[in-house]
Amino acid sequence: MKLNVIVLPGDGIGPEVTDQAALVLEAVAHRYGHQIDLQHELVGGACVDAHGVALQAETLQRCRAADAVLLGAVGGPKWGVDAPVRPETGLLILRKELQLYANIRPVRVFSSLIDATPMRPERVEGVNLLFVRELTGGIYFGGPKRRWADEFGRHAVDTMPYSEIEIERILRVGFEAARRRRKKLTSVDKANVLECSLLWREIANELSVEYPDVSLEHQLVDAMAMHLIRRPRDFDVVVTENMFGDILSDESSMLVGSMGILPSASLGKPGTPGLYEPIHGSAPDIAGQGIANPIGTILSVALLLRYSHGLDEEAASVVRAVERVLQDGHRTADLAPPGTQFVRTAEMGRLVVDALD
Ligand code: IPM
Ligand code: MG
Repeated sequence: MKLNVIVLPGDGIGPEVTDQAALVLEAVAHRYGHQIDLQHELVGGACVDAHGVALQAETLQRCRAADAVLLGAVGGPKWGVDAPVRPETGLLILRKELQLYANIRPVRVFSSLIDATPMRPERVEGVNLLFVRELTGGIYFGGPKRRWADEFGRHAVDTMPYSEIEIERILRVGFEAARRRRKKLTSVDKANVLECSLLWREIANELSVEYPDVSLEHQLVDAMAMHLIRRPRDFDVVVTENMFGDILSDESSMLVGSMGILPSASLGKPGTPGLYEPIHGSAPDIAGQGIANPIGTILSVALLLRYSHGLDEEAASVVRAVERVLQDGHRTADLAPPGTQFVRTAEMGRLVVDALD
């Protein structure tokens, strides 16, 4: 098979982690006899500096024509909140233009990392969640969205709109995923306050008739934030709107031990390219030091192989390699107990490549 992948390293630790993930992708492709074409392009602050925009039209076109896009991270203090062009818009444009409405964020606890979580080990052992986050709607994209000032001072408005079509298609992703897993779907909303959530809940209930094998429950987002800490093992697939999913997935990374190890896949209609990125940000505080954890991006490569190319065996071999390296006790700085030895970003990448079977 020929794999055409665009790599968008982005900002901060983005280039460091995508470098290692690209090495793993090349190694696995080589091992299984696939050809691979990796093209690097700019996104985010790096693109703002070079071209004055967070994503160039040509890059978007190249991404559209590729099988998949592998992204590091965007943003940083250099491009502050009042900068004329925000780096994050590059990522948001990509998601919107490629219609990547389904963001899949698996949260699975590695038993070898149980000592790295700030939680009580017996509470998180065996946690295996799948977040299905709506990614192209809601308050991220709705209008009006603006700031203004008048005689009463400064004002700002953001708008959360959702249509039936947007809600139904993401809920279906949730139901289908639950059907292939433990058959439990938790739909998260704020139906005690938001109209969007009332519509969301109504549609979820209507759809559940079509999925009698899946048990559907509703949780309010504030309560869900608590349940995720108190009884994370009780959940299987969690489906929610854009901003709630953003927040809950960062929270869930603490079940696993570090933001640095969670991958994500952003998917649209079948046949369109998927976007793969770690859930973490650009971590400007540690950028350029070679100490970032590349595992979230490496595991995103596994999702890329599975979802964009249907290469399940290759994907599984990447996950197994990561598991082996962790099992052997190798830890990046974010996972190592304070004062203990840790491996650097490039070393972790090499260890994973060497652990591929
Ligand atoms: C994420 C990130 C992005 C988001 C930012 C960088 C725009 O936090 O992918 O979770 O909010 O979606
Ligand atoms: Mg986020």
